Amino acid sequence: MAEMHTELIQWFEKHQRELPWRTHPTPYYVWLSEVILQQTRVSQGLDYFNRFVERWPSLRDLAEASEEEVLKEWQGLGYYSRARNLHKCAKEVVKRYNGELPDDYQQLLKLPGIGPYTAAAIASIAFGQPHAVVDGNVYRVLSRLFDMDTPINSEEGAKSFAKIADALLDRDHPGQHNQAMMEFGALQCLPSNPDCLFCPLQSHCLAFANGTIAARPVKIPKAKVRTRYLNYLVISDKNNNRYLRKRQDKDIWKNLYDFPCLEGDHCFTADELADSPEFARLIQHKDFQINRITSPFTHKLTHQTLVATFFEIKILDFLPVFQENNILLVPENELGNYPVPKLIENYLNL
Ligand code: ADE
Ligand code: SF4
Repeated sequence: MAEMHTELIQWFEKHQRELPWRTHPTPYYVWLSEVILQQTRVSQGLDYFNRFVERWPSLRDLAEASEEEVLKEWQGLGYYSRARNLHKCAKEVVKRYNGELPDDYQQLLKLPGIGPYTAAAIASIAFGQPHAVVDGNVYRVLSRLFDMDTPINSEEGAKSFAKIADALLDRDHPGQHNQAMMEFGALQCLPSNPDCLFCPLQSHCLAFANGTIAARPVKIPKAKVRTRYLNYLVISDKNNNRYLRKRQDKDIWKNLYDFPCLEGDHCFTADELADSPEFARLIQHKDFQINRITSPFTHKLTHQTLVATFFEIKILDFLPVFQENNILLVPENELGNYPVPKLIENYLNL
């Protein structure tokens, strides 16, 4: 085990990427980077991290932002509840801990958006405490080193991998050890075709010895994904104002903006659109023309596949302002100020 630690750390010191949260592992930097890195890879996450800390240099600054500003900065990362929790957490840390993240694992766990993974990462990297992290990279590395066939996404798997990670943890340097494990998974022990011939841990790796690398880690297949058809109404009026909708339902993308939408079990035709009562209600029976119907955009979420068609509709008059507070009339050049889901961003960038 000691020999394996030495090999791992030597590899890490030689190959690790230089990252702002490694150069300055302050609790704020570590927390923010770990929350972002649960959503994306380091290369893309770095840009988000830099924009966040430039705009909000301290946790206190982030707490003082509005939720909408935080969502806007998060735009493109997906899974927006993480961004909402990030903001909530900052506010709570200001309120309860005078703006300093606590150094206690149990207290960290109680904060919004901080689960076992993030709590262990902050406790170890920022505060040097002996908590092992297990993220996707670590699951893969461990499942290969110990040739484990327990599914990583089962309850039993979560328990046994956490146990092994804890047994393996270098208690004198927990932050460095955890980052080395994650970095090793990200750069060396890759999901497919890892470079085993030039791997410093090869002589310790049971999956290498047994020829089972391609079969590790074992995962239970996910439940089937549901397909939803979103027929978006991009309605503009004489002044080039557009209707924008704020999503408030208990559904995907809460508090983000998109367009009014007719959802069905297929992509609508122009006739189906024109016959729809919801469409009539929106345009108040004014004259309209359909200028363009996009080809369908496919967008995959964890449990849903969205198929979105955008109907670009022109009203030869002015659109009424709706009393319902979730339908806004927005000038075209201000559309970019609102936080929108990636799917809508893709459409707007077309
Ligand atoms: N992925 C998530 N957090 C990481 C870290 N601190 N180092 C390397 N990869 C990571
Ligand atoms: Fe990963 Fe291959 Fe090294 Fe084993 S030998 S740790 S599978 S890169």
